[in-house]
Amino acid sequence: MKNILTNHQSNHKKDPHYQKARKEGFRARSAYKLLDIQKRYNIFKRAFYILDLGSAPGSWLQVAKEFAEHNIIRYNDQFYHRDHYKILGVDIKKISSIENVDFLLMDFTNPDFPNMVQSYFQNKIDLIISDASINKIGNKFSDHLNQINLCYNILDIVKIHLKVRGVLVLKTFQGSDFKKLFSKIKTEFKLLKAYKPKSSKKKSNEIYLIGLQKK
Ligand SMILES: C[S@@+](CC[C@H](N)C(=O)[O-])C[C@H]1O[C@@H](n2cnc3c(N)ncnc32)[C@H](O)[C@@H]1O
Repeated sequence: MKNILTNHQSNHKKDPHYQKARKEGFRARSAYKLLDIQKRYNIFKRAFYILDLGSAPGSWLQVAKEFAEHNIIRYNDQFYHRDHYKILGVDIKKISSIENVDFLLMDFTNPDFPNMVQSYFQNKIDLIISDASINKIGNKFSDHLNQINLCYNILDIVKIHLKVRGVLVLKTFQGSDFKKLFSKIKTEFKLLKAYKPKSSKKKSNEIYLIGLQKK
């Protein structure tokens, strides 16, 4: 067992995205998935109020902060802009703090969560990103269904808090119930895309849904 673990860890450390993340100061290799999604869909355009669901250890928060800071200067025009940003991360695991980013240590399926989001933003949100994943038990079928269920929980949050024309990034797992989830989310957005970032491991069945222009 010890050998398997050691092998797994050293393979992980050989991963080029892991190495790059360490070098560039990101807390996790997942940062490159979000950067890839940004490159393709420009999700951070005019995003000032951002909610990150399932944010530990915090690399998506790091990326979000960079873009939000940049947006304040870049989009200082007569169109939609703000002179400040608000970024809220939530996770059941603790993270070490990031300056000017707020964090809630809680389960976002908790019925109190929507009220907490409302009192934090006091407004609708420009962008909701979620890399949240269930604790896999190793059975592909039930892992898939549990992740799909988590996505439906997230969709409820999106319906309440995401502004009209807002953007959603949502991690899910491919499998039997994917199509149904896709159709359900599609009704909320003008455009919905399924995208697998280059840095997402090929053997993983994870896929990201990108909702553009909430109705
Ligand atoms: C892949 S990690 C996120 C990595 C993160 N995007 C980053 O770049 O650092 C998935 C996270 O989702 C969190 N999570 C899953 N379900 C959750 C829930 N119901 N409430 C809060 N966090 C949850 C897990 O605790 C885990 O930390």
